[in-house]
Amino acid sequence: MEQKYAIIVAGGSGKRMGAEIPKQFIELAGKPILMHTLEAFYKYDYKISLVLVLPKSQHKYWNQLIQKHSFTIKHTVVRGGVERFYSVKNGLDAILNNGWVAVHDGVRPLVSQDTISRCFDEAINGKNVIPVMALNESIRKIKNGESKAVNRNNYFLVQTPQVFSVDTLKKAYKQDYACAFTDDASVVENMGYKITTVDGNPENIKITRPMDLKIAEVLLK
Ligand code: C5P
Repeated sequence: MEQKYAIIVAGGSGKRMGAEIPKQFIELAGKPILMHTLEAFYKYDYKISLVLVLPKSQHKYWNQLIQKHSFTIKHTVVRGGVERFYSVKNGLDAILNNGWVAVHDGVRPLVSQDTISRCFDEAINGKNVIPVMALNESIRKIKNGESKAVNRNNYFLVQTPQVFSVDTLKKAYKQDYACAFTDDASVVENMGYKITTVDGNPENIKITRPMDLKIAEVLLK
């Protein structure tokens, strides 16, 4: 069995939260969001190799949090980049062997064990996998001041973890950065590879705004 890896990206500044401390360090149910996220992957497979991407300026603070919470899950910390793309690239540089790699947003602590399993299982079957959710609300396309209803059945929300073979993801991240690369699937797809979707879980929200924190707090209890 080849090695499994998870790159947990938390290299962003978290500006939208408007909080004093970066959102990944906000405590939910007694510990920082990032610790819940790392635990989810450790719980899925205690042999997984965890790579945490954090801005260099936050490494010291993270070490203090590790002491404070007696956090014992082993992980490698690497520095973040100016865009998510570069943060993932730095994470990939810490992976030296073949296997399967999940890239997961650090601010999605509520990813379920089933979602992680579904993504890795399909990746091991040779697919490039992303978890998605159907839309519940009606959607419209607004362009040049005109709005038009579109069929919501044709659109899905994309979550993480996104799972690939290490080889595929490393090849994809050799491309030059483009602003259309908002996730890993968009980078891999740009190489001409097909993307396979599996069900995500509705609780797997990306904690972005203050309201998301309230929802996550309730869900984690
Ligand atoms: O900015 P966005 O909300 O899309 O970020 C998604 C994830 O990517 C977050 O976990 C964030 O910390 C991470 N990120 C990163 N490096 C950046 C920007 C975002 O690791 N430069």
